[in-house]
Amino acid sequence: MQSDRPTDNAPERVLLESEIDSDPFEQFRQWFEEASQSNEHDHTAMTLATATPEGAPSARMVLLKGFDERGFVFYTNLESRKAKELDVNPRAALVFWWGSMQRQVRVEGSIALVAPAEADAYYHSRPLGSRIGAWASPQSKTISSRDELEEAVKKVEIECADGDIPRPPFWSGFRLSPSVIEFWQGRKSRLHDRLVFRKSESGWNLSRLAP
Ligand SMILES: Cc1cc2nc3c(=O)[nH]c(=O)nc-3n(C[C@H](O)[C@H](O)[C@H](O)COP(=O)(O)O)c2cc1C
Repeated sequence: MQSDRPTDNAPERVLLESEIDSDPFEQFRQWFEEASQSNEHDHTAMTLATATPEGAPSARMVLLKGFDERGFVFYTNLESRKAKELDVNPRAALVFWWGSMQRQVRVEGSIALVAPAEADAYYHSRPLGSRIGAWASPQSKTISSRDELEEAVKKVEIECADGDIPRPPFWSGFRLSPSVIEFWQGRKSRLHDRLVFRKSESGWNLSRLAP
């Protein structure tokens, strides 16, 4: 049987209307910063959910590579399953889980590609192997073997041996511009705190949801 959480003797964390920042991006920044200093293996890891126009969902992990008041940015192959789904249904959801602090953040909103210059800047900041991998891997497509992938990497290495590697035209970033951001703080006896910001024409409205 699952035990109630948190199970350690640390003082219980709480999330109260009187303490949450009125700006959800600032609140996210604070929790993200705290997660970066906690025992999380990778606090930038998040689940990205997309869906086909018919409403069939799919989800996978990606890494958060930037956020500000415009939204949350991740990078991927534009011919991948996720990118194809986003192309025809540009709405998505993200979930962060920072277990050491019993915190979840859920984000929902619309998706758009980042500017080419932004994608270029991020691509060129990546390690060489990742830049080569972006060219070599036909992400989400069926391949015949591991060897096929490794051969593709060798081919790119040879082709790019004497110059800078440009960003592949099929690789870029997406920015999720949120309309809903929920902050979830795990508490005893499953009486968790859930505070949700919903965007309106006049700004962000805050409400509490039952756990
Ligand atoms: C922790 C973690 C982080 C990941 N980060 C990314 C990422 O930032 N971008 C990406 O394209 N795939 C990333 N992946 C791989 C994806 O989960 C997924 O396998 C891949 O993007 C193909 O997904 P798709 O076929 O649904 O498009 C990550 C996987 C894990 C486990």
